[in-house]
Amino acid sequence: MLSIQEQLADELAQLEMANQRRETISAPQHGDWFTNDLFGLSRDPHVIARAKAALDQYGAGSRASRALGGDSPLHKEAEELAADWLEAPRALLFPSGWQACAGVLGALVGRGDVIFCDRMLHASLIDGARLTRARRVITPHLDLTALENALRQSMGARRRLIVTEGVFSMDGTAPNLVRLSELAVEYDAWLLIDEAHSAGVLGPRGRGAWGAACEEGALDANLVSRIVTGGKALGCAGAFVLGSSELRSLMLTKARSFLFTTAPSPAVTGALCGAIERIQELDQERIQLQTHARHLAQELDLPTPAGAIVPVPIGSSERALDLTLKLRAQGIQVRAVRPPTVPNGESRIRIVLHSSQTTTQIDQLVEALRNLDWTPNSIPQERTSASRALWVVGTDTDVGKTVASAGLLHALRTLGRCGYCKPVQTGSEDPLSSDTNEIRRLVPDLLTCTPSIELPLPASPHEAAAAVGVQIDVPQLNSWLDEQLRRQTSGVLVVEPAGGLHVPLTPEVLTSDWCAQRSEALVLVARSGLGTLNHTLLTLEALITRNLHPRALILVGTPHESNRRTLAERAACPVVELPLLEPLTSDSIKAWALSSGLPEILEPLFS
Ligand SMILES: Cc1ncc(COP(=O)(O)O)c(C=O)c1O
Repeated sequence: MLSIQEQLADELAQLEMANQRRETISAPQHGDWFTNDLFGLSRDPHVIARAKAALDQYGAGSRASRALGGDSPLHKEAEELAADWLEAPRALLFPSGWQACAGVLGALVGRGDVIFCDRMLHASLIDGARLTRARRVITPHLDLTALENALRQSMGARRRLIVTEGVFSMDGTAPNLVRLSELAVEYDAWLLIDEAHSAGVLGPRGRGAWGAACEEGALDANLVSRIVTGGKALGCAGAFVLGSSELRSLMLTKARSFLFTTAPSPAVTGALCGAIERIQELDQERIQLQTHARHLAQELDLPTPAGAIVPVPIGSSERALDLTLKLRAQGIQVRAVRPPTVPNGESRIRIVLHSSQTTTQIDQLVEALRNLDWTPNSIPQERTSASRALWVVGTDTDVGKTVASAGLLHALRTLGRCGYCKPVQTGSEDPLSSDTNEIRRLVPDLLTCTPSIELPLPASPHEAAAAVGVQIDVPQLNSWLDEQLRRQTSGVLVVEPAGGLHVPLTPEVLTSDWCAQRSEALVLVARSGLGTLNHTLLTLEALITRNLHPRALILVGTPHESNRRTLAERAACPVVELPLLEPLTSDSIKAWALSSGLPEILEPLFS
């Protein structure tokens, strides 16, 4: 029996092996290319004076939640200043941006609603969305066509909320807010913008991306709220939720992360007042910041950034860490952003420009990167086109893996890119037994490929191969699979092996061992009725001993409440029932998939 410390150490060791262990770090004295204090307002004399005056007048702590005696005229002053600066009717101050995101989302939507999330949204919005119980539809980054399709398909929902960022924190890109506002109006959806990285940087007087979009004709009819954090360009902490007075009242009544937490301290609130006053005067510095960011991107041959963030794509997390350490050795402090913050294979060095930097310093950074052999094309190919496999394994042959795969693909489509492959097809002489054709029928317009190996005998792969005098070459099959994954470009590839989990692929290699070798995500498909308890529990045991943990168990056939309950108690994953669909069409399987809870279960595959 391991002690608590040993268990924690074990977990840490695993994170370390996956390059995901983190440490806290302080801001460097010199060569800071990563903190969010873009204009140095955290050290601004006026901001500090306002914080000190607040301390003197109100003391060190705010003593309680705003709803229980923690309120003060200072909080109201900060809110009025923020609303005035950002040209919003009202503002409500939260202790942090994370809390503002979680609070607003939780107060606005819930069960029966749909939230549309761009794939690159910041973790605070993703976490907030997860907490709401609304259905989440994740669309590819900045893909307005995908968003429009998703909006069209969700007209039955009670509320539809489009969530975006003014400048995306990880990519430095910006959405087309004019078009987003039009879509929101057209599809009767609400628009929420997190301006963490755009407020203070874009728009007149730093009023943010929305301020700029309004000048270009954005429609404010369906804008429900904006979130402006105090810990970024303002150099302090906290966050304002901006919107109508009804929105403010609703937030302070319903937002749990506002109600059940101590009010922001007087020092922070006073500093925020000072920073809001100062930031509006910084037009020159804003121009400087934009010029710096564009100069850096141009020198590195990267797309023009929307704000102060320039992500330098690296690919693997090992290489991103390695480059970071080598730059640090030269006195250049940068930070690598790695999974799970960004998708696998998309690690990057995230450069945050500051107005006080000089062109010479930027050129030194460029030179250092070039000396370390970084070029926009230096990203290993297999990393840029990273995608994940989702294996669909069965307790037996003919349990319904292909229909379940079709359902999974419809669910995956709501989240991002996906495709299907069947590496080995047995019984290939009968076109009716081609699972790939069945998938093409049930999931139209999907990226599929012909199987790598087609064997005429309807038997297990090792036997069907022997019948034509060959043996399956597993390394060759793996290369073929890697090639399919590359073609998939940053999506999820559903892989359906032939037969049940333990079926031999070769006389030496079972399908279960092949699966464990590749250690991919997987879903287990089983029958719903009599006999399933034994088959399914044995299969689960075989998976677990190979360190394979299914994302879901899909029970195909007439729903059987007691089997479902028994398996749910033992499966350690969600159990989903797939009844026999009559008729089995693309529409019927899609309708099942969208109401099955699978999109929420599969969402982590895209993060
Ligand atoms: C886009 C975005 N939203 C919200 C937050 C959370 O803000 P805070 O640090 O104040 O909790 C951040 C900060 O990391 C962010 O980048």
